Amino acid sequence: MTPASQASSAPSAAQTAPALSVRDLRKTYAGSAGNKGVPALKGVSLDVAPGDFFALLGPNGAGKSTLIGIVSSLVNLSEGSVSIFGVDLARQREAAMRLIGLVPQELNFNMFEKPVDILVNYAGFYGVPREEALRRAEVELKRAQLWEKATVMSRTLSGGMKRRLMIARAMMTQPRLLILDEPTAGVDIEIRRGMWKTLKEINAAGTTIILTTHYLEEAESLCRNLAIIDRGRIVEQGPMKALLAKLDVEGFLLDIDGTLPASLPAIDGTTLIATDDHTLDIEMPRAMDLNRVFAALGDAGIRVRSMRTKSNRLEELFVRLTGENAQDSTSQTPPEQVA
Ligand SMILES: Nc1ncnc2c1ncn2[C@@H]1O[C@H](COP(=O)(O)OP(=O)(O)O)[C@@H](O)[C@H]1O
Ligand SMILES: [Mg+2]
Repeated sequence: MTPASQASSAPSAAQTAPALSVRDLRKTYAGSAGNKGVPALKGVSLDVAPGDFFALLGPNGAGKSTLIGIVSSLVNLSEGSVSIFGVDLARQREAAMRLIGLVPQELNFNMFEKPVDILVNYAGFYGVPREEALRRAEVELKRAQLWEKATVMSRTLSGGMKRRLMIARAMMTQPRLLILDEPTAGVDIEIRRGMWKTLKEINAAGTTIILTTHYLEEAESLCRNLAIIDRGRIVEQGPMKALLAKLDVEGFLLDIDGTLPASLPAIDGTTLIATDDHTLDIEMPRAMDLNRVFAALGDAGIRVRSMRTKSNRLEELFVRLTGENAQDSTSQTPPEQVA
């Protein structure tokens, strides 16, 4: 049975079941003799809705790859259960696997093959007839902006093109769930943007996407929902927006034209402090309209000349949630902040 017919003949329960459901997942890697082993996952539960674009965010060593490895059957779980669109991984492993496409972090295709051959051969391995595979390869290469490069030697592709080829290859089996493990770790911002575009298109066309990342901004710009994992535990999960609102306030420093009046206006929901006679420190709910704040200040005769953000709220949230363990990853400045 081809993945296409598999998807269309899936039982109705699988249409409404979560794309991924993980219950109390535990994994302890075997230790060397006399050593009791490394606990990598300590009871992880999460659900990803069909159609979602979901981020699993966490610092290095948090357990992201272990979780992805278990879901994609590369790593054996110690305890717990996993189901994919209602298909239990332990009981119906092959059926569950047919629903998943995996993009590993490392480039792992043959650099001496042509993109179109890489895609068609991959699909062939999963039982897709050649004619159908050629048709799909055209669709996927076009979506990955690689159609012009279909027949060049893959090693001549740019870094970004190679990464998009990895995505196109995973899409050849028409997975309902696409999983990417740190797809953009260590790649520059141009390449990341190109991948984000391709991923957004894939998601818009109906494929559920889960990606792991330790780039906060990546999760924010791509994902609707996320879980933050740290030291083998989910420390936070929910809609991206709700999570950001949790931090609820963001702070700005406003430079004022002239000098501030002796008494500052009261603006509902905000805290205003004059740090000197021409600088205002304002804390306000993230959701609050800045124009309203400017208007209220204007009514009080205060003109704002310029403003600065006091801190990176996402970074702050991340550090707060994951403690000192997060230092490793948050101190690695993402390439876009370098550029
Ligand atoms: N094959 C393995 N054998 C032993 N320990 C491992 C293995 N893979 C990962 N670990 C350990 O499990 C923990 C989680 O690792 P991993 O899932 O790779 O985290 P992440 O992908 O979030 O960086 C780490 O402490 C790591 O050292
Ligand atoms: Mg990893």
